[in-house]
Amino acid sequence: MRIEGIDGARIALAFSGGLDTSVMIRWLQENYNAEIVTVSGDLGQEKELNGIREKALSLGAVAAYHVDLKEEFVRDFAFHALKAGALYEGSYPLATALGRPLLGKALVEVAQKENCTVVAHGCTGKGNDQVRFEASVWGMAPDLRVIAPVRHWEFRSREDEMAYCAERGIPVAATKASPYSIDENIWGTSIECGVLEDATVAPPEDAYQRTLSAEDAPSESTTISVDFANGIPIAINGESIEPVELLRKLNRIAGENGIGRLDLIENRLVGIKSREIYEAPAATLLHFAHRELERLTLDRWTARYKEQMSANYAELIYTGLWFSPLREAMDAFIDETQKRVTGNIIVKLYKGTMRILSRSSEFSLYDQALASYTSEDSFDHSAGEGFSKIFSLPLRTIARSKEKASITL
Ligand code: ARG
Repeated sequence: MRIEGIDGARIALAFSGGLDTSVMIRWLQENYNAEIVTVSGDLGQEKELNGIREKALSLGAVAAYHVDLKEEFVRDFAFHALKAGALYEGSYPLATALGRPLLGKALVEVAQKENCTVVAHGCTGKGNDQVRFEASVWGMAPDLRVIAPVRHWEFRSREDEMAYCAERGIPVAATKASPYSIDENIWGTSIECGVLEDATVAPPEDAYQRTLSAEDAPSESTTISVDFANGIPIAINGESIEPVELLRKLNRIAGENGIGRLDLIENRLVGIKSREIYEAPAATLLHFAHRELERLTLDRWTARYKEQMSANYAELIYTGLWFSPLREAMDAFIDETQKRVTGNIIVKLYKGTMRILSRSSEFSLYDQALASYTSEDSFDHSAGEGFSKIFSLPLRTIARSKEKASITL
């Protein structure tokens, strides 16, 4: 189906360098006489973006941007999700979902600078990412036109796209295509398609990109210490380290110990259930450590309330509503709670498992004198009698009323 109203337009395209968006440059030029400006965002993915500008220009783009978003991604997106304890459906650390709004923002900035009236992305019509891109772009630039050629074009398979390239002499990587669809950034990797579509099949080892299996992980455990300041990790094994480097380091250490693999059936925004494999070694370790520190430093009521908010925050990120007033309001609440989340956590990593070894904080609410069962005990035991009596009063009242009722019946 033809896309109306974009003939001759100047289009900012989110360009990953993969087959779809490479074909897209040529397809938009050929069918719509469009001028393409590409935008490639570096979110700390291991796959280097070296030469991506040259690639876009050689495919016919009139301008090509390669923007370094790593630092912003970690500080302003991933660490917000960490502080919020945001895990979608209780498990997925949301790496892909967190990357989209920032890529959308970069796309809008280039579009405005380059006088593009249209932005384009490579997402399909049945995924979450189209919604995240579009909600993010329109949340910032309500009048920009957004198109998704994959929802319209004639290609039904990778082979169709390869044939299109071959006919036009467009060079495509000769390497054998991975059977998987992989999206990756410094917060985690998402892997789907191929044999993974069968929910009864365990992921083959080659589906994993950045973690060892528990079986292949070293048989010696690794002990790691993480310092947090206001909910944010600032040092590893006692050494201060910048956010991007910190994640790189933890991804490597946790990945080598088999930490961070996830095999999930999840509810997509568009209504279907999908099966996705995730690898998020650093994010998994950090969520674990951060939660342990909150157990120590948050009071009971704040912790309970924040737990509800974690689920809502994750839902908001997953559904693409990052640039919303609700997210900002939640961040304000979360930042208030994080004023106490400063301290040290030591974790033992061993063949895919994590164990807490130590927690400490200047804001610790754990009072050993109150908790102790030794002669150090400072708890007022006699107060327990009155407390217990008043606390159980409603249940006694109910029991008495039941007794009375059965007598009069
Ligand atoms: N299911 C994940 C999400 O919605 C990842 C989507 C992209 N996955 C991929 N393998 N390309 O955030």
